[in-house]
Amino acid sequence: MNKVSIIGAGMTGSTTAHWLAEREFTDVVLVDVVEGMPQGKGLDLLEALPIIGRDVSVVGTNDYGATKDSDIIIITAGIARKPGMSRDDLLKTNAEIVGNAATETLKYSPNAIFIILTNPLDTMAYLAMKKTGLPRERVIGQAGVLDSARMRAFVALETGVSVENINCYVMGGHGDEMVPLTRHSNVAGIPLREYVPADRLAAIVERTRKGGMEVINLLKTGSAYYAPAAACAQMAEAILKDKNLIVPCAVYMNGEYGLSDMYFGAPTQLGRGGMVRIVEYALDDDEKQMLDKSAAAVRETHDALKKLVAL
Ligand code: NAI
Ligand code: 2OP
Repeated sequence: MNKVSIIGAGMTGSTTAHWLAEREFTDVVLVDVVEGMPQGKGLDLLEALPIIGRDVSVVGTNDYGATKDSDIIIITAGIARKPGMSRDDLLKTNAEIVGNAATETLKYSPNAIFIILTNPLDTMAYLAMKKTGLPRERVIGQAGVLDSARMRAFVALETGVSVENINCYVMGGHGDEMVPLTRHSNVAGIPLREYVPADRLAAIVERTRKGGMEVINLLKTGSAYYAPAAACAQMAEAILKDKNLIVPCAVYMNGEYGLSDMYFGAPTQLGRGGMVRIVEYALDDDEKQMLDKSAAAVRETHDALKKLVAL
């Protein structure tokens, strides 16, 4: 059986465990620093398996040793910004948590592929790759599956068509400057720009860009977890089943889209080795301009990280 270990058993981590167990293609280990919590969530999920009829192992623990020989490590550990805390404080704290989680788990699972979720996402993925020294194929950030799913959900609400017929692609950094690619998106093959009136499409683009904050404003005590976790589970499944699925992911750029030495969201083919290739769309001038703006925002956070942490 495959083995996926999730570091951080909070809302996104435990929900990822849930989606993974339901899909029955991997055993799951949940790790957190809080004593008892991952054990309790792991046991509760294990006790659900007879009801849903899934035969996988689910273990919650505070011990990295339990992650030994994982095929995939998903890092969701981190903290949210608290009152009085600057973005740089958050960046520093999460960099320490993610850097430590990545290097510790790598000791037990030298062949694992890493999926990073912790924010600021593109920069945490960059940090994990630099700290572990792994090739870019094996460190992938989750953002684009979620951002594209949000766009797909909003198009489905607008059109009344099944989500299965709706294909949307969001590129760029995981922030307000992300780039929903309306020209490449479609409803059952019909270009989105033909299917949805321009003013409605503009509203969908704007809602997609602010999708994370919309949920935070409603929840008030945390951020989204069902959809981000479903996205991590889909990426893990694509990798472990060697599906060669193309989905937007945060990947290390090595000249693609004219970008280098940074993580950025782009359509990515996922197979058993992790990132198989980055798909390069031919972008028009408007799209390139939006992409440059998004890249500048990501680059700024990368630069802030480099001032705070030795890489
Ligand atoms: P949460 O607060 O529910 O869970 C985080 C967990 O990390 C907590 O249980 C905490 O105890 C644990 N933790 C802290 N330090 C740790 C360490 N050193 N080792 C192991 N565990 C540790 O937060 P949630 O909602 O699960 O979000 C987690 C992160 O994911 C946040 O940074 C959030 O912004 C980000 N996120 C990113 C998304 C994306 O699309 N990239 C989407 C949703 C959330
Ligand atoms: C989201 O987009 C908070 O990054 C998180 O929901």
